[in-house]
Amino acid sequence: MLCLQRAEAMADGLPYPAPPPPTDPRLPLSPLQVFKLKKSWKGIKRSIELTGVEMFVRMFRSEPYLKEMFKEFRNLVTDDEMRENVALEKHATMVMNLLDEAINNIDNVDLLLDLLHRVGKNHLRFEGFDVSYFWLAEKPLLEAIKITLGDRYTENMDIIYKLVIRFLLTEITKACRNDVS
Ligand code: HEM
Repeated sequence: MLCLQRAEAMADGLPYPAPPPPTDPRLPLSPLQVFKLKKSWKGIKRSIELTGVEMFVRMFRSEPYLKEMFKEFRNLVTDDEMRENVALEKHATMVMNLLDEAINNIDNVDLLLDLLHRVGKNHLRFEGFDVSYFWLAEKPLLEAIKITLGDRYTENMDIIYKLVIRFLLTEITKACRNDVS
């Protein structure tokens, strides 16, 4: 299908504008999906703390034993206690800022992979951490993004976020499994 800009250029007898260059083959997203992701992520960026806290509340609700790894949150029981805890908000924001940096660099794949592999490797030094835990963040993260975006979380954005989060987690866990140098 022709994009509007190209169709208009044809009607005016002008040369076609060049289509966007393809994305890096290591990235599971098309140029249009990258464009939509960056645009949508601005909505997350504006509520980054709330989104991060919602993700952690949901993750700790479904997997309460994960709290044990965090000495500052291990005694929090209810969702309200978690939502009001400053240390939890601080940590959740740090995780979200890392994801923000990843999405900002989504089309610079060498830099992106380096960042994700470093994060993965760093987690190996946390006592009691297991690489499988990363995947426990997938569903809560998607749910938190959906809540923050509300109506802006369309079916198309659902496909894009699922693809990108799976990609980020795959790369983060690769480093833990020593699949990268
Ligand atoms: C989306 C996935 C995740 C990302 C991007 C992420 C990112 C981060 C970042 C940026 C830090 C700061 C410290 C550092 O890297 O050296 C951190 C610390 C940490 N993360 Fe994650 N993380 C993720 C998932 C998880 C999961 C699922 C767990 C399991 C419970 C976890 C456990 C920890 C622990 C225990 C710390 C250290 C906290 C402390 O300072 O006491 N992370 N994480």
